[in-house]
Amino acid sequence: MAKITFITSDNESITVEGTSGSVMELAVNNNIKGIDGDCGGVCSCATCHVHVEPEFVSKTGQAEEMENDMLEFDDLTNEYSRLSCQIQVSEALDGVVFKVAK
Ligand code: FES
Repeated sequence: MAKITFITSDNESITVEGTSGSVMELAVNNNIKGIDGDCGGVCSCATCHVHVEPEFVSKTGQAEEMENDMLEFDDLTNEYSRLSCQIQVSEALDGVVFKVAK
């Protein structure tokens, strides 16, 4: 079980719990504003864009090439950008904070 916090563009902080699936699925299932997951998690829409709070990058890992290619099309991309559909929920993510990128 991992507790994961999302900070929305309204600066609302929402902590949810998950055990499996992707961070995008967890967000969509909990109605996190700004994470739509339009492509269902196949890395082709960028509607699941989040910024990892810097201190947690070691827990989430870095984006892979296909993910980076997709992020290049988003104006809000920065060095902490990830597509949340490409991050799997696991114990290792416990305590991680993501800022929704829109
Ligand atoms: S859900 Fe489409 S890229 Fe993540």
